[in-house]
This record gives sequence, structure tokens and C-alpha cells, in this order.
Amino acid sequence: MADERERFLIRYAGGFAPFTVARAEGAWVETTDGRRILDFTSGQICSTLGHNHPRIAAAIRESLDTVSHLNSWMLSEPVLELAARLAGLVPAPLDRVMLLNTGSEANEVALKLAKMHTGRWEIVGLTRSFHGLLSGIASVNFSMAHAGFGPLLPGSFALPAPYAYRCPVRHCDGACDCTCLETGFELVDQQSVGSLCAVVAEPVLSAGGIIVPPGGYFRRLRELCDARGMLLVMDEAQTGFGRLGTMFGFEHDGVVPDLLAVSKTLGGGVPLAATLTSEAIEDDCVGKGFLHVTSHVSDPLPAAAGLAVLDVIAEDGLVARAEARGAYLLARLRELQERHEPIGDVRGRGLLVGLELVTDRETREPADALGAAVTAECLRRGLSMNIVRAGSSANCFRMAPPLSITEEEIDTAMEILDESLAAVLAGQAEAAAS
Ligand SMILES: Cc1ncc(COP(=O)(O)O)c(C=O)c1O
Repeated sequence: MADERERFLIRYAGGFAPFTVARAEGAWVETTDGRRILDFTSGQICSTLGHNHPRIAAAIRESLDTVSHLNSWMLSEPVLELAARLAGLVPAPLDRVMLLNTGSEANEVALKLAKMHTGRWEIVGLTRSFHGLLSGIASVNFSMAHAGFGPLLPGSFALPAPYAYRCPVRHCDGACDCTCLETGFELVDQQSVGSLCAVVAEPVLSAGGIIVPPGGYFRRLRELCDARGMLLVMDEAQTGFGRLGTMFGFEHDGVVPDLLAVSKTLGGGVPLAATLTSEAIEDDCVGKGFLHVTSHVSDPLPAAAGLAVLDVIAEDGLVARAEARGAYLLARLRELQERHEPIGDVRGRGLLVGLELVTDRETREPADALGAAVTAECLRRGLSMNIVRAGSSANCFRMAPPLSITEEEIDTAMEILDESLAAVLAGQAEAAAS
């Protein structure tokens, strides 16, 4: 039956959720017919403080009473303060900030700066990566969204992602030794026309299946970039500001990128993003005529929301909390793995966690249909998670609840997942027997 709600909407990602939301608070959303759903994706992995945090609401209200939008060359106090606060959170030499709105945009700006600074244009991304859907950055999105949107930018190359559970170069099993990185760079070198500009990477590849690179991966990547005069761009759309149990994902390997793109988690539900780089790169690019102006660059309203997000993260100790709650969530999922044969792999860092479903633990054949059925059953029982692509299949649950999630809420989610898996598997067994 046609969905009445679609009458005036472009279906930008297939269909829509089978309910309409009336309100959202903390880790919960409430539908117009009064159902409460535990949101284990923090909206689009943005609402790290929980939905509609009162501090963000107060900051927005104040902004509406003072100044919310300006001509892009006019600066306001929230913008100046947020730029300084961000520069203070990251290591030297990243002390130049541009405030934008979306993750795609922050990456586009990072790539523009990288191209202008190096004078080169070949960009490398990881397979299974997702960096946004604007045409430039989407050229190095290797997990999805190329079909039908060609041509990609010339000089877009892929490095095999360090996906230990399904090694892309059929070398490792369970623990990646970075052979994919070395082999991948040999291929990049062979394809390059001598204009290698930058590598862009997520600290944990999220939309591509919660792939956690092994320790040392980014140190080696940094060396490989340096050896070629390439810049390293870290895309921390999902991982910045605590989700991985550190303020930024790049801290795990002690590597400092040349350009850093942050977005989703900075606004806490408000469209806010930032690109950070060094004085040397900023100065050089400005000297060469750098231009990137958008309608809402340096807007005071989202900047005020971003300041509230940073305040609450610090005051509530949310970074440490993400680490502790993430460990709890992983442990609870590993318990479930012991009881449910189709849970082939559980992996993650902090509160960015994945669970891969397989039809057989030996063959590791992806259980896409089971994934879809369990997602629907979880939603029916009050838990929203999404399936992301792992390899060429869609069989990996992504869990990214707010950093403010409680152990009781994690227990509730685990109960729903446990019961949903059991119900769907029992249904499948019954159908097979009849
Ligand atoms: C790692 C990463 N980078 C960039 C983006 C794009 O962000 P936006 O949708 O705000 O453009 C996303 C969105 O999911 C993302 O996960």
C-alpha cells in the first residue's frame, strides 16, 4: 500500500520509517501514536548528548534572541569562541578552523585545501569508506553510492580497508597485519600519474561495517603519505568528540593529520561541521586565492550549539563514559554471541560497535535476510538500530547510542535484541520444518 506520507517527499534513501516521530529526548524517540523507541543510532550518529539536550536548546534560544545568521564575512562571538575552543582541543599544528554545516562539506573543504596546498589532485580513500555524498568527496566513498552517479573525479583511488574478519587481500584472519595497506599503496603508486595529493580516512570505518584498523595502521599510513608528499585527512564525522572513548579517533595511534574534518557529533543534532588545518596550509592556500563560501558558513546559531556540546562533553565526562559504556556494550554483545550462532563477529571501539550476522560461523556467509528480519523485529519491539554494509553484504548492525546512555538502557537494548534474534530464528526454523 502506498505510504500517504510520501505524497510530497522525494524518497532520498528508498523508503521511510513506518512511523512518524512526535518528540525525542535522551536516547528515546516517541512516535505520534505514543510508542517509545530506544534510538541506538543517536539520530544520524549526531545526538551524542542525547536528543534535544536542554543545554543545546538553551544555546539556540539565546542565539535566536541575539544573533543567529549573518553575512559570511561578519563574525560573531560564538564563532570566534568555538574556533578557539576547537583549536585548543587538537594538537599542534592544527590551529586554523572553518565552521561549516555538514560532514560532506567539511571533507570537500579539506580536499580543496589539500589540492591547493600540494598543487596535486589524486585522492586516495579506503574501500568500505563513507565520507559524504557531494560529488567531489563521494568519489572516494568506496562503501556505496557510486552507481548511477558517474563519472567520478579522475584520480580517485582505493586502498583495501583493514577488514580483518574478511581480509580484502585474503591474507590475514582475525588480526590485520597491514599487508592490505602495503599492497594497496603499491597499486596506488602504479595507477598514479604523479599527482598524489592526499589520503582521506575514518579512524573506524563506520558505514562500511564498523571496521577497526589495527594499532599502528595510521602511523604506517602517515609514513606512506609523508614518503610521497601526500597529506593525511582524517574524517572524524562520527568519531570526533568522544565516541571512541578518546576526544578524537586519531589519538589512538598518536598520529596528527594535516587536515581534520569534524561534523555530526559537534552539533549534537544541529547542522554544524568544521575543517581544521595548520597555519602553514591555511596561509599558503589563502595566498593562492582559496575560496569556499556557503550561505551558512560561520553562522552564530550552530556555533552556539557546538559550544554547548563541548561544555556538556567536558562537564559530564562523556569521553570516559563512552569508553566505559562501550566496554559494557561489547561485553553484553559477546554474551549474546555465545548464545546465538548467527552472530559471527562483534567488534568496535568505545560506543561505535558492530555486530555481523552470518549463516555459518565457519564459512562466514553473510546473513543479509536475517539482518533485515532482526532489524524489523527489534524496531517492532522498541529498538532502532541500522544495518550497514560489511563487504558487499548488508549484514552488520551498527550501534552508536548517545554517549549519555545508561547501563540500564543498554540492558534494555540487549534484551530486545536477544528476544528478536530468538523470535526470528524460531520463525525461520518453523518455516523450514513445515
Ligand atoms: C564518516 C562520515 N563522513 C562524512 C559523512 C557525511 O556527513 P553529512 O551527511 O553530514 O554530509 C558521514 C555521514 O554519514 C560519515 O559517516
